Amino acid sequence: MNYDVTDASLAEAGGLRVEYAGSHMPVLGKLKERFAKEQPLAGVRLGACLHVTTETANLMAVLKAGGAHVALCASNPLSTQDDVAAWLAVELGIPVFAVRGEDNDTYYQHIEAVIAENPQITMDDGCDLVCTLHDKHPQKLGDMLGGSEETTTGVIRLRAMEENDALGYPVIAVNDANTKHLFDNRYGTGQSTIDGILRATNVLLAGRRFVVFGYGWCGRGVAMRAKGMGAVVAVCEVDPLRALEAAMDGHLVMTVAEAAAWGELFVTVTGCCHVLRAEHFEVMKDGAILCNSGHFDIEIDIAALRKMAASERRVRPSVDEFALPDGRRLYLLGEGRLVNLAAAEGHPASVMDMSFANQALCAAYLVREGKSLDKRVHTVPREIDEEVARLKLESMGISIDSLTPEQQKYLADYQIGT
Ligand code: ADE
Repeated sequence: MNYDVTDASLAEAGGLRVEYAGSHMPVLGKLKERFAKEQPLAGVRLGACLHVTTETANLMAVLKAGGAHVALCASNPLSTQDDVAAWLAVELGIPVFAVRGEDNDTYYQHIEAVIAENPQITMDDGCDLVCTLHDKHPQKLGDMLGGSEETTTGVIRLRAMEENDALGYPVIAVNDANTKHLFDNRYGTGQSTIDGILRATNVLLAGRRFVVFGYGWCGRGVAMRAKGMGAVVAVCEVDPLRALEAAMDGHLVMTVAEAAAWGELFVTVTGCCHVLRAEHFEVMKDGAILCNSGHFDIEIDIAALRKMAASERRVRPSVDEFALPDGRRLYLLGEGRLVNLAAAEGHPASVMDMSFANQALCAAYLVREGKSLDKRVHTVPREIDEEVARLKLESMGISIDSLTPEQQKYLADYQIGT
């Protein structure tokens, strides 16, 4: 079998960690049993481009149990857990192409290796697999049943493709499921971003001036958790409604120019490019820490920072110091890539449980319905979203009420007033 991983001898260590993560993924565990029995993906070729983590390994095991032929590559050059990649290749026996720290050429060669397996379904995180398939292999689009997309950035790219009539097959926006973004983006990114910052720097957050760029679900989560650790939080946001929400959530709200001079620790989570630029580095305090938790490493203008710096050195794992000619030092974490995956382990398993349950159920849905869906971006069917919520509540031992017949009648009757 074809694969490319850093070190196949890491498989045993990876397996222990995959099993541990699995013990925090009860919904996925339930689906694995169901998939093994019902074989909803029997014989289907599925190509995945995801962060290669212990949680993703558990998803791959579910897809394989459901009968799929799975191939996997990394969705970011710096997020692969090499022991997990080894376990997937050696023990689960799937073609895996993922090497932590791979360069851009290798990253795209790995995507090509997945495409060479002729997937009928794509499962993407950031849309690089889908874009490469469309750009380089348009002749393969006709064979596709459909795809699913894990993250906000990928959904934005897909919607742009749809707008331009460039989308060659239906794709489900898993990110937009309630049981995905309200939990993974908010609580997952919130916690794991702080985790990445702390593992990289070991700084005290209490009393630190902490700036969050972007107040989408990820930004909300990061700001909330930073505040919870005692940081003084400021939010920069271009959307007036979100900026207002940030203000009423109790955060300072200011422009990027104001924040650059005010802040001590900066986290970009906007999905947009060059949020922090030369003019901002010019006014930052000595010792300022910069990191990104958005999908791509384009939010901080690293080339400009490098150009301004008199010297650059790695002072500890995941921490690069840029010394400026006037003596100030700025610290960039995880090379500006997703700090939660570059410097920590990504979102905890118990939240990925819900995201990946949506992915597994959407793959089965695409096998059943893909050929009848338009070549558009589709929302996750409500039944899937609700089933994931129900299964998660059940796994947490939480029971909820249902409406009484009288209450149902009341809600359906618009004539009952004062
Ligand atoms: N994205 C964020 N955290 C992740 C994780 N733990 N596994 C896969 N994808 C992720």
